[in-house]
Amino acid sequence: MSDVQDVSFFDRVGGQPFFDRLVDVFYDGIAVDPVLLPLYPEQHDLGPARRRLALFLGQYWGGPTTYSDERGHPRLRMRHMTFTVGPLERDRWLHHMVHAVETATDSFTDPAEAAAVQQVLLAYFVPAAEHLRNDTGLPISSVRPAPPAG
Ligand code: HEM
Repeated sequence: MSDVQDVSFFDRVGGQPFFDRLVDVFYDGIAVDPVLLPLYPEQHDLGPARRRLALFLGQYWGGPTTYSDERGHPRLRMRHMTFTVGPLERDRWLHHMVHAVETATDSFTDPAEAAAVQQVLLAYFVPAAEHLRNDTGLPISSVRPAPPAG
């Protein structure tokens, strides 16, 4: 998965405010999700996590490199290894993101442009969420080491 994308997409959607809104709607869903919320290390205050994802997405689509300036190379697969991302988590994450994508584009005046932007976003999010999956979801084949005996 590349961490660099077409520079013009960031400007096309209106810059960082678009990604801030996308992530705000997304995290409003995470905040009430009984499966995903417990995975978030700062679940009592999702503000910093909102900011990290919004800056990452802005950077990914050609905006300022603030995310990498603050966090270093994204290394997203490595950063997600501390959380169980199985099929259930992947699908719930995508459920909230699809809703966020639809909401963030509902103010576009041109429905064709809204649909085109949705397509670009989801063409990234769907395979990326699968790429970050690190657990099969099957009881006998977890990639995680077994807990210490006793
Ligand atoms: C397209 C898919 C995804 C992208 C682009 C993405 C992106 C990110 C980014 C940029 C961060 C912050 C990394 C950092 O700087 O520390 C993050 C954190 C996190 N992600 Fe994802 N993620 C994706 C999918 C998922 C999925 C499927 C889950 C399901 C469990 C998940 C759970 C988390 C959690 C729990 C955190 C920690 C929150 C934080 O402290 O920032 N992510 N993700």
